[in-house]
Amino acid sequence: MMRETEPMHWNTKRGLWFATRYDDVALVLRDHENFSSAQYNIDKPHMTERPVDGERYQAFKGPTMVTTEPPEHTRLRKGSAPAFSTRGLKRLKDRVEDIADRLLNQVEGNEGMDAIADYAYPLPVYAIGELLGVPHEDQDEFLALALADKGSPAHDPNATKETLERTAAHGRRLRDFVEDVIEKKRKQPGDDLISSLLVSQQEDNLTHAEMIDTIHLMMEAGHITTVNLIGNGLDVLLDRPEDMEWLRNDPDLATSAVQECLRYVGPVQFTGRTAIKDTVLGGQLIKAGESVIPLMPAANRDPLQFADPEEFRIDRKPNRHLGVGIGIHVCIGAALARLETEIAFTKLLSRFPNLRRAGEAEWNTSFELRGRTALPVAFR
Ligand code: HEM
Repeated sequence: MMRETEPMHWNTKRGLWFATRYDDVALVLRDHENFSSAQYNIDKPHMTERPVDGERYQAFKGPTMVTTEPPEHTRLRKGSAPAFSTRGLKRLKDRVEDIADRLLNQVEGNEGMDAIADYAYPLPVYAIGELLGVPHEDQDEFLALALADKGSPAHDPNATKETLERTAAHGRRLRDFVEDVIEKKRKQPGDDLISSLLVSQQEDNLTHAEMIDTIHLMMEAGHITTVNLIGNGLDVLLDRPEDMEWLRNDPDLATSAVQECLRYVGPVQFTGRTAIKDTVLGGQLIKAGESVIPLMPAANRDPLQFADPEEFRIDRKPNRHLGVGIGIHVCIGAALARLETEIAFTKLLSRFPNLRRAGEAEWNTSFELRGRTALPVAFR
């Protein structure tokens, strides 16, 4: 409704602009010279006015590629790029297939599973472990650490002192673990992300702290996003048996199927930018210092860009959705997330031809990262 009646909407309560049209969303994401990621700030009073004190677990201590603009952004992003290149992903493909198989082996004797807890949730953690280059003998510890106390309670206004302390201790264990892996890679480099960040230390003056922040960033940005893409996509497919059959018989369809999931049920609902100087967007004057929240799902169903936008079309082409952003901040992990989801779908369908829904999905309560927290399926 907003997109049709007031595509650039000023929200008085929060003092923010919301952009909903495809062209406006794409423009604000692309135009990093006028709209900066560095200062975007949604007012979250509970982050500053906390009812309880306690050491916060903060994954990132300093600026990352997400919150900088060139030339800093270029420097901070460069060291990660090789791990996500075509060559890097080729290395990961077999590993992700193994991960999917291992997870399905664990449930194959059962009547069914929770497709989130048993499959979609652990799969990306193992995949990030492979991306980073976590040695095989340490992967179970990595999984345990990455899964424990997920969801930083620093964001929860009601978090108790105990919770905050437990999370802080957990944060310290995770940091120690990451330091250990870095030391191992320093002695024995591979073709993984941590090894290429070590090269970037030499070539781009990436500091140790920036390297640690980048690793934490990948763990945060690459987990629940991908869980939600797999979960949201499966939930859609389970209601469309013909599409599931088509995909089972033609695994090449997985590429467009996953792109359509990113458009139709993409996990990331919004990001944010702040105008550096007075700029006109969608016919509205955005004053310097004002923030714009581009709502990607609204753009992804804009009829001016997509034919029959409310329809899920598994073979949709072209499909220039904005589910992973666009411009210099476009998701660096998008190809990995798509690969994981393609493999998750095709493995599940080929190994369990009787796959069907066994109950309604449960949803998370996040406005930012929309996804399912439980999805019961049967396959006997
Ligand atoms: C389905 C899964 C994913 C979705 C929907 C997603 C979505 C996004 C979006 C929309 C952005 C742009 C944010 C902006 O412009 O402000 C972004 C950036 C980013 N994503 Fe993802 N992402 C996913 C998976 C991943 C994975 C697997 C990784 C890493 C392992 C990752 C790492 C990042 C990083 C580091 C950035 C910041 C890039 C920059 O600012 O230069 N993401 N992602």
